[in-house]
Amino acid sequence: MPGTLIGMVGASPQKVAVFGAGYVGLVTGACLASLGHRVIVRDVLADRIEALRRGDVPIYEPGLDELIAGNAERLRFTTDVAEAIEGADIVYIAVGTPPTYSGDADLSAVWTVVDELPQIERRTVVVMKSTVPVGTGEKVRHRLDERGLQHVGYASNPEFTAEGTAIRDFLGPDRIVIGSFRDEDGEAVEALHGGVDGPVVRCDVASAEMIKLAANAALMTRISFINEIANVCEATGADVVRVAEGIGLDRRIGPAFLRAGIGFGGSCFPKDSLALKQLAANSGYHFQLLNAVIEVNELQKRRVIGKLHSHLGPLRGKTVTLLGLAFKPHTDDIREAPSLVLAGRLLAEGADVRSWDPVVDGTALHGVEIADSPEAAAAGADALVLVTEWPQLADVDWVAVGATMRNRLLIDGRNMLDPETLRSAGFVYEGIGRGPGTGGGS
Ligand code: UDX
Ligand code: UDX
Repeated sequence: MPGTLIGMVGASPQKVAVFGAGYVGLVTGACLASLGHRVIVRDVLADRIEALRRGDVPIYEPGLDELIAGNAERLRFTTDVAEAIEGADIVYIAVGTPPTYSGDADLSAVWTVVDELPQIERRTVVVMKSTVPVGTGEKVRHRLDERGLQHVGYASNPEFTAEGTAIRDFLGPDRIVIGSFRDEDGEAVEALHGGVDGPVVRCDVASAEMIKLAANAALMTRISFINEIANVCEATGADVVRVAEGIGLDRRIGPAFLRAGIGFGGSCFPKDSLALKQLAANSGYHFQLLNAVIEVNELQKRRVIGKLHSHLGPLRGKTVTLLGLAFKPHTDDIREAPSLVLAGRLLAEGADVRSWDPVVDGTALHGVEIADSPEAAAAGADALVLVTEWPQLADVDWVAVGATMRNRLLIDGRNMLDPETLRSAGFVYEGIGRGPGTGGGS
């Protein structure tokens, strides 16, 4: 088993199969093709594969369409397992691992892929890109051995790509983490990343699995921390934006992931925090800090409702507009987005809910009216809630928008807008953690 070491990588074209044409699989496939590898992406969804063959990319990720089109000669798509595996040096698993009812990761799609691998004759390495509980690699190794695939290698190569910047994150990573049982398997994955400039962390499989979960947990902890500081700022009259700036300049702390707001969402943080919590609990450990991080985040999403109450009283019959639905800008992903909790709570309170988002198709939000511009969404509303900090919102003419509203109230769930601009446009402006006189309550 290799120890942890850090080095730089070299290059050589390989044949790569990627199982799963979702956010992670497509980015992985397209980026590896751009590095010169021959890539085939396999998915069970025939419609998705058909669309990709026509050049229609099923997800919104900046730069992905161009990367797929630009590398078409080295990038193919299929639903056929045998075609995908034929001649493959490396087989990536990038299927989804959503939470089960218990909070554990649902690995059924991973096992489906492992079980549908044919009797590969050549030396191939199966590489786990999907986020999985620590110990999964050990189990997959065992299953491969049981199936007579001892010669097939196994490595864990977790993804650290954030949606919206996934291509940049893949091709210019902070680090590449590769865990393997055998050195040669880790070396094969390292060689695949030739041309990617970033430090490589080589380690055992369990540590690689834990690095992914721990990195996400660390980032979530920072967000819940700054959100709690924001809540105390609100109670005491400080401005969390200034506070975050002031503490972030401490080199030991750093400025990233200190943006207070209405909580984290997305396909990774919520499910990975639950998975790590369950992983610890299943091993007999109560992960107290992580439990608190999760609880703070749940409460944070609901604080906006309290703010609306304090300004509007009962919400029955009031029109509330959500500006942005995606869990963050530059993606069409609404998995675990705070907008879903907000819309659900508002509808339950009897409010009429409207929304605008530049890329999300909001039809999945039942009962929410969808408008095609922030202006149209705001007309006649009693309150606006800025949910996603889309750059388009920086260009809105708030004086004109305010003139069309029944009541000029804006709750800025991302502290994106300038409080003074809104106030001089006649709005009651409230951010998150920005006490009165600092950008907080009117
Ligand atoms: C990924 C990871 O795999 C997950 O573990 C990580 O934590 C977040 O990102 P993502 O790419 O976002 O998931 O998932 P999704 O967009 O749902 O795509 C998964 C794809 O796998 C889908 O297109 C689905 O059809 C496909 N799939 C699923 C298969 O091809 N085979 C299966 O057996 C199951
Ligand atoms: C995350 C990780 O960053 C990435 O490394 C991993 O591979 C997948 O999960 P992603 O979920 O795409 O990426 O987005 P990220 O930018 O991390 O944001 C996650 C959530 O945290 C968003 O809802 C965002 O609004 C929120 N957030 C982020 C804050 O509330 N405050 C911050 O300071 C930063």
